[in-house]
Amino acid sequence: MDGRPTDSPGRRPAAVDGGIANPKAVAWNRLGSAYWNRNYDGGPDEAGCAQYLGGVAGGERVLLVGASTVRLARAALDAGARLVVADFSEILLAELEASLGADAARYVRADVVSADPPDVGRFDLIVADRLVNRFTRDEMVRALRFLASAVDVGGRMRLSYRLGLYERDELLLAEARRRGEQAAVFDEAAFDVDYSGASGWLAEVLPRHGDIPVEALVDFYVARGREHRLREGELDGLLAEAVGDGTRYRVAHLPVPGLPADLLLEFTRSA
Ligand SMILES: C[S@@+](CC[C@H](N)C(=O)[O-])C[C@H]1O[C@@H](n2cnc3c(N)ncnc32)[C@H](O)[C@@H]1O
Repeated sequence: MDGRPTDSPGRRPAAVDGGIANPKAVAWNRLGSAYWNRNYDGGPDEAGCAQYLGGVAGGERVLLVGASTVRLARAALDAGARLVVADFSEILLAELEASLGADAARYVRADVVSADPPDVGRFDLIVADRLVNRFTRDEMVRALRFLASAVDVGGRMRLSYRLGLYERDELLLAEARRRGEQAAVFDEAAFDVDYSGASGWLAEVLPRHGDIPVEALVDFYVARGREHRLREGELDGLLAEAVGDGTRYRVAHLPVPGLPADLLLEFTRSA
């Protein structure tokens, strides 16, 4: 499939992936738990999990967006949280459910960038590991609107994100420049990357991920399509754009242990 995402509804398939009309879900369904179960165990390490879950008391309602983030799911259960895991990939949800057990958590299929997301309830804490980096700018605003509205008054949301280009983006761009094809993979004005523009030669520059075959990795990155890269301070503006006037909150951007390029957005809702 083309897999090239766009914010133009006219170019989106009406429905892919059995009801989730977001072509990016195809990418995650293709890899499934191969993303995390080979030489990689799903997201933050112990210190990272402790940072995400700091202050959580037994019985609190925690929403984890991203069934691939299996270590954080386990840490939330260990902390005694009542865990809901939301994901648009039915494969990753099913594989996490098989790993944790059906009764350990509630597993909800939801696309958090949808203009019409399902009602998942209200939470004391919402967490997601570098989820926002997978989105276009418009998708970020829709996701922040939805997730902020699901934070209960007095609750928090902690979303890690990377500032600027990833190392693998730099490799992609260097090769695209060498080939005179930069515009196919990088929209400099928007600060968006799109690996689908490099499908013919991506295998030559893509760093490995565990022991996933390179062809599968290429398919994955191509289907992920366009992603926005964040500039310093930008998330605050996107939050202000996303969150309604009636919502009062404060925001902090905290360093992430062991990951100097990442930050943790901590959103605390007061009204
Ligand atoms: C949280 S992100 C990043 C991966 C992460 N660093 C980890 O710990 O594995 C990946 C997860 O988010 C899910 N995901 C991506 N976009 C989504 C969306 N729009 N709605 C719901 N889930 C999404 C993917 O299916 C995948 O399980």
